[in-house]
Amino acid sequence: MSRCPGGPLPNEADVLEALRPVEDPEIHKSIVDLDMVKEVAIDGSAVKVTVALTVPGCPLKAEITKRVTDAVSPLDGVSSVDVDLTVMSDEQREGLAEQLRSEHTTAGADGQPARVNPFTDARTRVLAIASGKGGVGKSSVSANLSVALAQRGHQVAAVDADVWGFSMPRMLGIDRPPVVIDDVILPPEANGVSLISMGFFAREDQPVVWRGPMLHKALEQFLTDVRWDEPDFLVVDMPPGTGDIALSMAQFLPRAEVIIVTTPQPAAQRVAQRAAYMAQKVNLELLGVIENMSWFRGDDGKAYELFGAHGGRLLAEQLEVPLLGQIPLVPELRIGADEGHPIVVTNPDDEASQAFFRIAEQIDVELAPRKIYRPELKII
Ligand SMILES: Nc1ncnc2c1ncn2[C@@H]1O[C@H](COP(=O)(O)OP(=O)(O)O)[C@@H](O)[C@H]1O
Ligand SMILES: [Mg+2]
Repeated sequence: MSRCPGGPLPNEADVLEALRPVEDPEIHKSIVDLDMVKEVAIDGSAVKVTVALTVPGCPLKAEITKRVTDAVSPLDGVSSVDVDLTVMSDEQREGLAEQLRSEHTTAGADGQPARVNPFTDARTRVLAIASGKGGVGKSSVSANLSVALAQRGHQVAAVDADVWGFSMPRMLGIDRPPVVIDDVILPPEANGVSLISMGFFAREDQPVVWRGPMLHKALEQFLTDVRWDEPDFLVVDMPPGTGDIALSMAQFLPRAEVIIVTTPQPAAQRVAQRAAYMAQKVNLELLGVIENMSWFRGDDGKAYELFGAHGGRLLAEQLEVPLLGQIPLVPELRIGADEGHPIVVTNPDDEASQAFFRIAEQIDVELAPRKIYRPELKII
């Protein structure tokens, strides 16, 4: 074993200390605390770390290997890092699932832990992106707004509740299903957003036939069986219209703030209005309106209002909420959506991306829920 004579040699405690900040990419907790580091073997300057993955064929093998290598390589005296991946025993996995479950359970009537919907308390802001009809850009707004909020440093999760027309996995560039540990679902993540979609449980080329009660149950499961990890924002891509799912979502997410997406046409605006009234009827707060496909800017630099003008502003005035922004029609936005690269990531300087950033800022700053006034804290 060749090494620098007299140089320091790594020891197991140092290696474990270096591994402590390494998080499991899906569970977002230290792999040391999760007891995933099974062995640290040191032979002179060569370190071998054995890591037990949560499930066989874990899609994030390469990522974990990289994180471990990056953490251990800089240690004094380390010349090589070898990462050996094994799989947790059933017993260990059950223990982990138990630990994850306990984060969001409460004592049920029978004394057993009961699963709870984590979005009824005030920790997470829930943004429901709704529209009267399909094709107006709800999913595009949901995807880009989620990423824009994540880029502002927030932890962001998204639910694709458009059970018939799910498109969020593709738009966000998520190409793997969730990892399921026992019955705890860990949402996959891309571009800083964790997502759960019906698309993970159905094949894209097959119709999904859901009946009302089944759908209600499925949505409830989205919220309770998934380990959401207390995000700052939950962005919900609602199905178009005012049907059963919208009502179910309103019931499960009573604190949702609704954003209505519309195009500039007066006809679209009238349909969008219905979605807004329905939100008000079930006592959800209307946060604002986003007008999409507002104009197309030609090579001549001129903005062409292909779908008319003012629809968003008129709707916002009618509903007495702010017009949060206008998103132009840009081919890169559609291409990005089709290829899983949101435009806010690939072309941040684009007019459309800038509009998304301003909308995210407004939601985050101007429209942040007012701090509760607590007179007892006043210093006299
Ligand atoms: N501002 C835009 N510029 C260019 N294409 C857009 C824009 N908004 C949406 N699209 C495209 O229009 C189609 C419908 O948008 P989508 O977000 O799926 O609407 P919805 O979810 O309301 O049905 C998609 O192909 C999308 O990429
Ligand atoms: Mg959609």
